[in-house]
Formats: sequence, structure tokens, C-alpha cells
Amino acid sequence: MELSAEQQKMMAEISQASGLAPKAKPITQIEDEEVTRFSSGDSELDLVLGGGIVPGSLVLIGGSPGIGKSTLLLKIGGNLAKRNSKILYVSGEESGAQIKMRANRLGANHESLYLLSEIRLEAVMAEVSQNGYDLIIIDSIQTLYSDSIPSAPGSVTQVRTITFDLMRMAKEKQIPVFIIGHITKEGSIAGPRVLEHMVDTVLYFEGDASREIRMLRAFKNRFGSTSEVGIFEMTHEGLVSAKNIASKFFSRGKPNAGSAVTVIMEGTRPLVIEVQALVAESGYGNPKRSTTGYDASRLTMLLALLEKKLDLPFNQYDVFVNIAGGIKINEPAADLAIIAAIISSFRNRPLSDESVFIGEVSLIGDIREVFHLEQRLREAQTLGFSKAILPNKPSFKTPMKCYVAEEVAKVVEWM
Ligand SMILES: Nc1ncnc2c1ncn2[C@@H]1O[C@H](COP(=O)(O)OP(=O)(O)O)[C@@H](O)[C@H]1O
Ligand SMILES: [Mg+2]
Repeated sequence: MELSAEQQKMMAEISQASGLAPKAKPITQIEDEEVTRFSSGDSELDLVLGGGIVPGSLVLIGGSPGIGKSTLLLKIGGNLAKRNSKILYVSGEESGAQIKMRANRLGANHESLYLLSEIRLEAVMAEVSQNGYDLIIIDSIQTLYSDSIPSAPGSVTQVRTITFDLMRMAKEKQIPVFIIGHITKEGSIAGPRVLEHMVDTVLYFEGDASREIRMLRAFKNRFGSTSEVGIFEMTHEGLVSAKNIASKFFSRGKPNAGSAVTVIMEGTRPLVIEVQALVAESGYGNPKRSTTGYDASRLTMLLALLEKKLDLPFNQYDVFVNIAGGIKINEPAADLAIIAAIISSFRNRPLSDESVFIGEVSLIGDIREVFHLEQRLREAQTLGFSKAILPNKPSFKTPMKCYVAEEVAKVVEWM
């Protein structure tokens, strides 16, 4: 049955009045939207965000206490304030005077950076709608609470509801909002994990609070890739881009047994790092395995492989593995270096300090190629290394002397 023009109009009116106007459109008719971004004034943060801050985005920055969340965001607030943006820094943790002291140290003092020591969400919202801001920083989500919810500040319900309200505000007003979330060990306070699905971008700080190097990694990003990593160094002036950290993850000098160097990729950046192993005869019972910055089950696998392929009696030895500089390794390209370090410690024989070890070790004991080999070798060469132990001959020209070890036994031979 055909509807007359009159009928069609009436139908449209009825459905509009009932709020049921059809809204779905063919995807081809949806207009493309360019994501606009602006710089945070910090090249590392921009990199992790996928090129800068997106208006109206909600960004969660998580990390353990003391890692540098407040430091980074206060600095960003200062950067943007200096470029004529009006910034609101809400703190439920520190007094204005405390924050001011930090801002002095970071060089973030500026009249366009506003501080609000407040824990009531309603008061924060009122401030934003009355005075208008270009960017808002919440430090931290766990200290805010909403009057409308009976549960305690920091509880899952509180944290979720507040985040939802902040999200709505961010989208409506097209203001970016940065939320700090503490990673806590106690279960009584909701960690940032419960918010991951709600926000646009999730960044986590990694690193040891007692060391200077901090990594900022994207775990989720609706506006960009999650492959880039920001690398910072904690200094008196705050977190500064650790562009020139290249040589911070290994030490040169008298070679020591149990130390081997590899090149890992952090995002698009190659990093030369030192892995350390300590192999020591164990007492009775179960030998100990312990790792810092390296996957413990991967170590167990490598040890089992060495036992099986090379007849090394690791079941009678404690094995400890540590990655220098407080870095965490998530890629298998370091396997070869781990093995080399373990054997070097076991035999108490230092490795040549001119060599880097790059290769993934498989369960059957062969050594596999890794991505971005050219970049890795170039970085190693820049830092003064001259030899590389690799699974196969590189297909490109390199001034490095390359030794091929296509299986674990060959590494031992080389050593
Ligand atoms: N005067 C200072 N000089 C250098 N570093 C400092 C100074 N004061 C504090 N820090 C560093 O800042 C860290 C605190 O960072 P902060 O941003 O408050 O962490 P979070 O907000 O993640 O808990 C401390 O762990 C310390 O390393
Ligand atoms: Mg803080």
C-alpha cells in the first residue's frame, strides 16, 4: 500500500511527537569527522595521546602513588595556561598551598591556571558552568564524591557515577577532562580499572617510584593507536622527556658476568637495555626463580629449554633476572639476551661488552627473527656497540659485525 504525501507527513509528525523518529542512517551517509587535536606542550604526552589532546575527550591517567601523575598534569596545566587556555585543576588531596609549591618547582605558575580544593562533584560542576574552562584536571577520581549517591567516596558506584557525569560534561561542552586514578592494593577503593570502559583514553604510568625513569603507556585510545610509549625522567623540574635517556638502561665499563645487552622496541623507538641474571646454587628443595621487569613464566620456559637442550642442571640453581633501569620488557626479542645472561652468570664468564643479543627463542629451541631489526641495529651502533648476535644474516647493509645463532646451542658455542 502506497502512503499519500499527506499520510507520510502525518506519520512523520506522529513518530516525532512520540520521540520515535527513525534515527539510523546508512553508514555511507554519515559525514566524516576529522579529529582535531591540540598540543599539551609536552612531546611525550602528545605522542602517547596519538598526536595531542582531543577536545571533549575524557582521559584517565592511572598509576601507583608517587609515580608522578599530579606532577605531569600540573605541568600540562601550566603549559596550556601559558598559551591562553583557562585551566581548572581540581584537587581533593592537596591544599592550594601544597600545589602552589609544586607549581613553583615545575615552573607551572600562571594566572590562567585555577586551583580548586574540593571533593564534592556538585561544587566542581557548578564551578565549571559558572566560570567556563578550556580543560579540567581531576586529582583524583577517588577523592571526589557526589551527594546524590549514598556510598562512600572511592567506592565503585561513586567513582563510576562521577566519571559518567564528567564524561557528559566533557562531551556537551567539548572540554577535555583528565582524570587521575590511583592504583591501590586495598580493595576498598575502586581502582582505575573499573573506569576503563567508560573513558576515551586510558594511560598508565609504569616504573619504579624510587627510580627516575617513568613510562607512560596507552592501554586504550579511541583517538589513536596504543603502540607509542612516553618516556620521562623525574627531575626537580618535574617529568621531562627522556629523549636523551638512550644510555640510561645499560652501563658500560668492566664487563660483568650475568649481564647482556639487547635492543627492544618501545612503540616506534628502539631502546638499548641491559638484562641481568644471577644464577646461584640453591639450598634444598625448590630452586627459586624471581624476575623484575620480565615475565616470570617466560623465564621458567627458557630455563626448561636450557636444561633440555644444553643439559644444564638449572633445577639445582636459583635464577634471578632483572631488567636495568626499572623497565618492563613485553617483547620476546630479549629472550636471546636473557639466555646469554643466564649462561654467562652460570659459567661466571662476562660477555663481550661490544655485543647486543637480539632474537626470540621458541619452545623447540630455535631462535627467531624479530621485527624492526634494522632500526634496532642502528640504535645499538649509535650507542657504540659493534657486534650483534642474531638469528640470521640481516638482509640490509650494516657496519655491525653479525654472528648468526639460529639455535640455542649456537649461542653457547659463540660464547
Ligand atoms: N623536590 C623534588 N625534586 C625531585 N623530585 C621530586 C621532588 N618532590 C617530589 N618529587 C618526585 O615527585 C614524586 C611525586 O609525584 P606525584 O606527582 O605527587 O605522584 P602521584 O600524583 O602519582 O602520586 C615523588 O615520588 C618524587 O619522586
Ligand atoms: Mg598526586
